[in-house]
This record gives sequence, C-alpha cells and structure tokens, in this order.
Amino acid sequence: MNRILIINGPNLNLLGRREPGIYGNCSMESYLETLRSRYPNHSIEYFQSNHEGEIIDKLHEVGFDNDMEGIVLNAGAYTHTSLAIADAIAAINVPVVEVHISNVHAREEVRHHSMISRVCRGVIAGFGMNSYRLGIEALLSL
Ligand code: DQA
Repeated sequence: MNRILIINGPNLNLLGRREPGIYGNCSMESYLETLRSRYPNHSIEYFQSNHEGEIIDKLHEVGFDNDMEGIVLNAGAYTHTSLAIADAIAAINVPVVEVHISNVHAREEVRHHSMISRVCRGVIAGFGMNSYRLGIEALLSL
C-alpha cells in the first residue's frame, strides 16, 4: 500500500485546544480518522514533534523509501526559521508539500516568509484542517 506521511511540528500536538479562533476545534487525531476513511487505499502515517532535530531525523528516515508517495509537512513556527529543515527536505527524494492551517500571509509579517517553500513541491495555506487533505491531493496529482 502506498504510504503518505503527515508531519506536524511544534505546538501542533495542541490542535483542537490551541488558539481555536485561528486553528479550529478539531484535534489532529479526529481529523486523521477522516483522512484515513477518505483514502482507504493509502496508509496515512502521522508524526508530530516539538523538536527540530526529531523532524529532521524523520525526514531522513522516510525520505528515501520507495513506497513513500510523499510528505505533507506543517513545520509550525520552524517554517519561518529553520534552514536545517529546509536542508533536510532538499536532501531527500520523497516530495514534500508545505501546508499551513491558517493563512500565514494574512497574519503577522514574521509569518510571511518561509524558509522551506523553496525546497517543497508547493504550498497550501489557509484552508483550516482541509489544508492537510489538499496537501494529500497535491501529492497524489504529482
Ligand atoms: C502554522 C502557521 C505558523 O506560523 C505557526 O507558527 C504554526 C502553525 C499553521 O498551520 O497555520 O504553528 O504552520
């Protein structure tokens, strides 16, 4: 079965509880159930970490797997700061789509710049939890 990995970065373990006016009320665990029933022919895997190095280790671990169709990455605030995550994405073979729940361009200026967009296949932002589904659709259309 083809695999898709969703990686969430820092503070995204709090989805459903964190700033619901921005990120909504839905937990990642419940949204994953929605995704898994929508894509029964794919194995939708999930990894979350609040630590930059762990995200890099995960990218290295799966980034050369032939059965890994792609990675949907919400790097959280590391999006705006992490050259190291950008280098890891550039190093691997598996395509990565950058996603954001909120429209980062409609928020504070510090969120307008992404360190990782340059090395991702594309960017989806602003569609709430549906950004993850759209990220999967983008990978499946490659
Ligand atoms: C986010 C946007 C980032 O600016 C922020 O630091 C996050 C979440 C989003 O999904 O909208 O943690 O990536």
